[in-house]
Amino acid sequence: MSALPTLPNPPALLRENLPEDLEDAIRKLKKERNAVILAHYYQESEIQDLADFVGDSLELARRGTKVEGDVIAFCGVHFMAETAKILNPEKTVVVPDLLAGCSLADGCPAPAFAEWLRRYPGHTVVSYINCSAGVKALSDVICTSSSAELIVSQLPDPIVFAPDRNLAAWVEKKTGRKFVVWPGTCIVHETFSERKLLELVAQHPGAEVIAHPECEPRLLEHAQFIGSTSALLRHVTESPKTAFIVATEEGILHQMRRAAPQKELIPAPPIENCACNTCPHMKRNTLEKLYLALRDLSPQIHVDEKTRVAAKKSIDRMLEMTAGLTLGPPAGQRS
Ligand code: 13P
Ligand code: SF4
Repeated sequence: MSALPTLPNPPALLRENLPEDLEDAIRKLKKERNAVILAHYYQESEIQDLADFVGDSLELARRGTKVEGDVIAFCGVHFMAETAKILNPEKTVVVPDLLAGCSLADGCPAPAFAEWLRRYPGHTVVSYINCSAGVKALSDVICTSSSAELIVSQLPDPIVFAPDRNLAAWVEKKTGRKFVVWPGTCIVHETFSERKLLELVAQHPGAEVIAHPECEPRLLEHAQFIGSTSALLRHVTESPKTAFIVATEEGILHQMRRAAPQKELIPAPPIENCACNTCPHMKRNTLEKLYLALRDLSPQIHVDEKTRVAAKKSIDRMLEMTAGLTLGPPAGQRS
């Protein structure tokens, strides 16, 4: 993995000293610390249920601009918590596990990206939010899966798009544009099996295939609806269809089941007989580690000021360019 510092799991002694009712202890600590818990949809369900806000990457960035309180406990992966810190330099941002990375962010180190960009002078650099602060600082504008199409449609050619080649291909298809692409992938979304998906479709002829744009293009060919985690959740809630084959990380099923308990949700199958549709980085976060992070105010996210200011510029540009975009499930059904 990347340049993230190594952090051991909590020592055995600490684990033995954890309170019995962790949820209750976390709620109490949250008050004592004047903290807000932000969580991504791929977190385990217990964490989602404790969070003050659960959302997709754009919603979490937007929410990150309105945090009251002194501490943000960010339950997601490193680049998401880093984004919250970039937007809130005066606040303490803690994470349950500093090693919760992302294959996309880790596969695009800032020094290599800077070197690569030299080949493309005059290009507008659009980077998916799944990248480090260093890469954000080298970018003109950030996008998320829910905002990439809207952002690209407002920009002139030529465009460099990094670091997800599958998202890039999907946006190229939607906009009819062509980008210079950094060839990264998400280890979770590239593991769905086209063959097994088609078998599942044959077994459930009434079910609609819905997929995240981080999936490979040949898998997306079979999807009737493609969107960010929030867009998928909203679609399941609002669609008249009653069964869905869901090609994204399985954590989103928790909110889908809550929002549409009467609907049948079938996870898309990975290539191997494995739990590869579970993000190993997202799932490093546990209630135990969240409790310890709030108790000890550690581990914390830090971003050097020069990088932060440059990265904030590209995030702010995304927020401005997507100000009118509505996301997520209908009001009243949010966590
Ligand atoms: P969204 O929640 O923005 O769709 O992103 C998915 C993802 O892979 C986050 O790492
Ligand atoms: Fe990164 Fe993929 Fe995990 Fe999202 S699901 S955090 S893109 S590795």
